[in-house]
Amino acid sequence: MTLTKSDLDNRRIVSGMRVTGRIHLGNYHGALKNWIKLQHEYECYFFAADIHALTTNYEHSAGTAALSRLMIRDWIAAGLDPKLCKIFIQSGVPQHAELHLLLSMITPLSWLERVPTYKDQQEKLDDRDLATYGFLGYPLLQSADILLYKPRYVPVGEDQVSHVELTREVARRFNFMFGREVDFQEKAHAVLAKINKKQAKLFSEYLNRYQQQGDLQALQQGKELLTQVAANLSVTDKERLTGYLEGRGRIILPEPEVLLTKESKFPGLDGQKMSKSYNNTIALTEAPESVAAKIKKMPTDPARIKRTDPGDPEKCPVWSLHKIYSDSQVLDWANNGCRSAGIGCLECKAPLIDSIIAEQKPMIAREKELERDPELLQHIIAEATDAARDTAARTLTEVKIAMGIADA
Ligand code: TRP
Ligand code: SF4
Repeated sequence: MTLTKSDLDNRRIVSGMRVTGRIHLGNYHGALKNWIKLQHEYECYFFAADIHALTTNYEHSAGTAALSRLMIRDWIAAGLDPKLCKIFIQSGVPQHAELHLLLSMITPLSWLERVPTYKDQQEKLDDRDLATYGFLGYPLLQSADILLYKPRYVPVGEDQVSHVELTREVARRFNFMFGREVDFQEKAHAVLAKINKKQAKLFSEYLNRYQQQGDLQALQQGKELLTQVAANLSVTDKERLTGYLEGRGRIILPEPEVLLTKESKFPGLDGQKMSKSYNNTIALTEAPESVAAKIKKMPTDPARIKRTDPGDPEKCPVWSLHKIYSDSQVLDWANNGCRSAGIGCLECKAPLIDSIIAEQKPMIAREKELERDPELLQHIIAEATDAARDTAARTLTEVKIAMGIADA
């Protein structure tokens, strides 16, 4: 895809999180903290993917609506600012489902079957029947989520890259099939008539050289010429000529790029990755007493049976958390104290407990405020939903016209 000026100006990002439960510290230190940083740099659309939750959890989906709101409340408590980003629930914008259906018409089954998460998840979640139409369509629903807002970037972790890749392929196929207006050539010629004759003639020469002889230099020259004449043309007209030159249609759904979130494996209470399914989490707004109790119960290096037995921090899940929460001074103290049996495990855990509680304190305070005012949260979501729906509806209209099921 050639980037036009409007693409480069595009600072919009879209991302979603499946509604699986309340936010825990692993979610916070993974995706959420990154979103909170990005909200200052981009125009952000963040949503609770409740329909995606249904694709795997359809048998136990009661209460999802309330859970979506609680998850969003956690996001805001963590520092996502509704004044800076649009925060909404996927099913509140029906265009997600509608675009998914329309895109399904042109998406080959084989593209969906070969997305790696399809087989992976089916094997991993073997307690449920995922041989469903909806589950196969999971990544295509995600494509619709993204393409509706025409973002430049999609911030996601490594595990979601294949879904953004599919999104790009679907967009490309869509543009290829439907970006070609019936009277594309006539329209392109009408635009050429608007620019000066000499330049129009040059453009046609470059176009012929590129399309008939595959002359890449001519393609480059043609693009440069278009940049020169672009000042006098509308964005649509310029895109039309670019499409004409490259031998493809107009770009209706721009291809988004991945903005990769570096995944740090945030350790859970047992040392495995913190995850709801491992039952090893600390909630974002877990009460301080409960945080302390959970950390105190954490297993440590099994070699430290007695207080006088020296240990090895590398064999201790508490150490993994220390490395995230503690400064070098505390780390040195814990490391030396452990190896020399100079400190006991409960002693070692104390500064960690303090750091976690300190990090949570402002979040718990914000959460309390939101808890006191449920209407505020409803209002925040409703307003963002309206704004998202406006943008989504505009894209959907373009899509329907391009596909021929609506009149221009
Ligand atoms: N599939 C994503 C996940 O499990 C969540 C998601 C749904 C998403 N729609 C999206 C992420 C659109 C980015 C963009 O994490
Ligand atoms: Fe783990 Fe600290 Fe105990 Fe060492 S002293 S085993 S690092 S809790």
